Amino acid sequence: MSAEKVTVSIIKADVGSVVGHARPHPSMLDAAKNVLKDAQKAGTIEDFYVTRVGDDINLYMTHYKGENNKDVHGAAWECFQQATKIAKKMKLYAAGQDILTDAFSGNVKGAGPGSAEMTFEERGSEPLLFFMADKTEPSAYTLPLTRIFMDPFTTTGLVIDKRAKQGFDFEIQDVMDNKKVVMSAPEESWSILSLLGDTSRYAIKRINSRAGIGPAAVVSTDKLNMTAGRYVGKDDPVCICRCQSGLPSVGEYTQPFINNTMLVAGWMRGSHIGAFYPCSPEDSDPTYYDGPPRICCLGFQLNNGKLQGLEPYGAKNGEHIPVDFFGTSTFDEARKNAIRASKFMRSQGPFVPSILGAEEMEYTSRPDVLKELTSRFVSLDEKPKKAACKSSSKKKKPEVE
Ligand code: F6R
Ligand code: MG
Ligand code: MG
Repeated sequence: MSAEKVTVSIIKADVGSVVGHARPHPSMLDAAKNVLKDAQKAGTIEDFYVTRVGDDINLYMTHYKGENNKDVHGAAWECFQQATKIAKKMKLYAAGQDILTDAFSGNVKGAGPGSAEMTFEERGSEPLLFFMADKTEPSAYTLPLTRIFMDPFTTTGLVIDKRAKQGFDFEIQDVMDNKKVVMSAPEESWSILSLLGDTSRYAIKRINSRAGIGPAAVVSTDKLNMTAGRYVGKDDPVCICRCQSGLPSVGEYTQPFINNTMLVAGWMRGSHIGAFYPCSPEDSDPTYYDGPPRICCLGFQLNNGKLQGLEPYGAKNGEHIPVDFFGTSTFDEARKNAIRASKFMRSQGPFVPSILGAEEMEYTSRPDVLKELTSRFVSLDEKPKKAACKSSSKKKKPEVE
């Protein structure tokens, strides 16, 4: 008989912050903790951890209820309702921003918050990494994940680990048209990259082991601006990864964030390109031009459905201490490089490639500028109108460029 499968969920939302779009107030995080304490007591969830990156509250939850479960999503929804109440009382900025519907309909999908969930049979030892990004979009994970899972020059495990060598299946989503396709690496590597290179449309949703280990990585891909039908912000996506023993090791997951300075879309007003700044949640306040886009990486072991970090065994009430991978001095150089690259991008001001291309700027005030100017634009090919020409001379005017 196969063991009961555990589900690991992150549900996240930005429901207000102090100051501007910087960070949620500690009372908001406490309110979320209280809701999840009750959910744990009620047996809805096994365990939880509440944290944040920039202005986003992230709820890590483990349970045996499967993905998209009404009670688990309902508990998360309640956390965001309680945090919103506090944000409104304190008159914090953008209070309730990601709460897009009045009534909870059984699932946070399409209601504003983002979610990433994976379900699997817990192995003898189960190391997990939780990535959280702020001021960027789901496809920001594409470059690191393709390097980790497809590039043997990055992940030596793809060459020397028997099970990793069997490759991985990639579920790729077209976030604009709400479609998906599953492709396999290494066989289809070049085609996978040709699709994913268009980061404004395609993003990795899931990566599964082809050696029977199950899910390896899952990303939240709820494109907020599409969900709301208007521009709200980038998704500030999360990514859950299982590590080791036939999957990329912890170090293979973290390496690309030192070796590469990665440019991603988002940053100020969700309309710029900046470099990923790897940091600790404590250092994740967006202090430079509302950014730059930041990414954190926290690690836990899973122990019979419970999270185990550096806290004593059996800790209750979500009082966990994760291993903070990007909070170490090892990443100092990567942070410096990210700031250097971001400053370079800012030197281009409001010009591409500092700002996003026309398609992605659709949700800003840019289309209104174009609309207002419609009647003033004249065709370069149009002949001068006779009535407009005061001179009665019959002489044909020479054409001027
Ligand atoms: C980006 C973000 C911020 C805001 C910017 C303008 O995700 O949250 O960069 O877009 O501060 O915010 P508003 O429009 O609220 O003044
Ligand atoms: Mg915000
Ligand atoms: Mg945010």
